[in-house]
This record gives sequence, C-alpha cells and structure tokens, in this order.
Amino acid sequence: MTEAAPMSETIAKPAKPHLPDAQIVTSVTHWTDRLFSFRVTRPQSLRFRSGEFVMIGLMGETGKPLLRAYSIASPAWDDELEFYSIKVPEGPLTSRLQHIVVGDEIILRPKPVGTLVHDALLPGKRLWLLATGTGFAPFASLLREPQTYEKYEQVIMMHTCREVAELNYGRTLVENLAEDPLIGEMVAGKLLYYPTTTRETFSHMGRVTDNLSSGKVFADLGLPQMNPAEDRAMVCGSLAFNIDVKAILEGFGLREGANSEPLEFVVEKAFVGDGI
Ligand code: FAD
Ligand code: A2P
Repeated sequence: MTEAAPMSETIAKPAKPHLPDAQIVTSVTHWTDRLFSFRVTRPQSLRFRSGEFVMIGLMGETGKPLLRAYSIASPAWDDELEFYSIKVPEGPLTSRLQHIVVGDEIILRPKPVGTLVHDALLPGKRLWLLATGTGFAPFASLLREPQTYEKYEQVIMMHTCREVAELNYGRTLVENLAEDPLIGEMVAGKLLYYPTTTRETFSHMGRVTDNLSSGKVFADLGLPQMNPAEDRAMVCGSLAFNIDVKAILEGFGLREGANSEPLEFVVEKAFVGDGI
C-alpha cells in the first residue's frame, strides 16, 4: 500500500435531510484504500457518552435500511458526529458507504450503547486505551473528551496496525489535540501515545499483546507494570485481539467490568468476524 496524502472535502452548511433518521454528510477523508473517516450532522436530540456506538447505514436495494454498528469517533460535546470506517470490498454496507460524498444522506439510529465508557470503570491513576485497526474509533472520541483527563493522571494510547499509513487517522488526531481549544491544555504531559506496526518498518513495532507481556511498553514509557490498584484499561479490536489482551490484563490482576458493574477494564469488539 502506498502512503498518500489524505483526500478531504467539506461543506460549511448542510442541506435538510429527506429520509427518517437521516443525517447529512458534511466531510469525507480517505486515509488509505481500506480506511476513511466522515462527519455527519448530529440529531439535536441525540445524547451519548463518549466511547459509545450507534447503528448507521444506507437504504438497501430492497428499500429496507442496511445498518451496521459504528463507534462514534467524535466526543459527546461535538456539534457533528464523526465515524472512522473500514472499506470491505465485498461488504454489504462499506462497499457502498466508501463512496459517500458531501451532501449525501446516511441513516443513523439515535440509540447509543456500549461498554467503553468512563462509567464502566472504577477510579484509577492511569487509563490504558488498547486498539488495533478501526478499534481506534471509540478512543478517537474518548481522547477528545475532557473527562478522560480529569479522571486520570496519565492516559496511554496503544494502537497497532499492520502498516504505517493505517496509523495516520490516529496520529493526526493525537497531533491535533495539543491545539484543541477545549482540551489542549489538559492533554499536555498527560497523554502518552504508543503507535506500533507489525508488518512495515516503523519507529515502534510489535503487537500490543507482545509489548504488554514482554514489559517493553512499560520500559519504553517509564511506567510500572499494570496493576489493579492504579491501572484501568479499555480494549477494542478483533475478537482474537480482545481475547488475548483480556488474558494479559487478567494476568496483571485486573478484572473485566461493565456498565452494571464497574471494575478495572472493559472490552468491545471493533467488528464481528475473523478479519479480511
Ligand atoms: P460486514 O458483512 O459487516 O463485514 C464483512 C467482514 O469484514 C467481517 O466478517 C469482517 O471479517 C470484516 N470487517 C468488518 N468490519 C471490519 C473492521 N472495522 N475492521 C476490519 N475488518 C472488518 N467498523 C468500522 O469500520 N468502524 C467502526 O467504528 C465500527 N464500530 C463497530 C462497533 C461494534 C460494537 C461492532 C460490533 C462493529 C463495528 N464495526 C465498525 C464493524 C461494522 O459494524 C461493519 O462490520 C463494517 O462497517 C463492515 O460492514 P459491511 O456490511 O461492509 O461488511
Ligand atoms: P499481525 O500483523 O502480527 O497479525 P488485522 O489487520 O488482521 O485486523 O490486524 C490489525 C493489527 O492487529 C495487526 O497489527 C495485527 O498484527 C494485530 N493483531 C491481530 N490479531 C492479534 C492478536 N490476537 N493479538 C494481538 N495483536 C493482533
């Protein structure tokens, strides 16, 4: 895959939608041939907690909505909603969704849910956000959420992709945080960003799992090994990734929590299936 400058387009003032539950696309950015992000208008009534997901989609050929789960990548305070998406060539939704342009309508069911929320964790000193691929999306929301920096002394974002270009959405977002008028000052000195690749040479390499179990990430960042008294974690990746990370976190003594029972870590699938 070649690394190209992301292609973006935006509009200032969206038109009024026609379909029920429809929102208007206000910008689209293509990051690689497999990844893009887009922003849409936000229903005035929609309230959500940073880190949650909703069902979005397009009208199917049969006249029925074709919907899929998507993490809201924008924070709860944003006027618009942002999404970060895979492009699956034969995927029923994303084979079409990848072609949306500014001014198009998408369907958005305004019922946010999910476990990657602050309420599902007990208070702690450090928050670890652990993602592969598009699993970065809920953390794109939480990294722009003031509560993230109010609740924790340090926030560590580990994101792993096969290739360097696949990190670009996350890298750009993290780089822009310092300039953010709302949280720029809160982030300074608190956020530790640890991106790695596994199949292309990069400054830091290796799977999240290997860097945790070998202790490399703790040594690199000058942090103690994770422990249940101080560390909290949110995990979002493929099923295999989630299972492997969960075992490692449990090995460190952390317990999996939920909205109904806040504990030391929470997990959500970035997608259903074995990968592509
Ligand atoms: P599908 O038929 O849904 O998927 C076809 C195959 O493509 C899957 O079996 C899987 O092997 C692969 N695949 C699907 N999604 C991904 C992915 N994200 N990364 C790698 N491989 C994938 N997708 C996003 O792109 N962004 C999100 O923020 C997002 N959030 C999600 C949150 C939850 C809770 C869940 C369960 C899924 C989420 N997904 C997300 C996946 C999304 O729901 C769809 O699967 C995806 O948009 C592809 O839809 P599709 O109809 O084109 O193909
Ligand atoms: P690797 O290249 O060693 O397989 P994918 O594109 O297949 O979803 O993978 C995204 C990233 O997640 C890749 O860097 C991949 O590493 C890594 N990964 C895949 N499965 C696991 C797992 N079970 N544990 C840790 N990392 C994983």
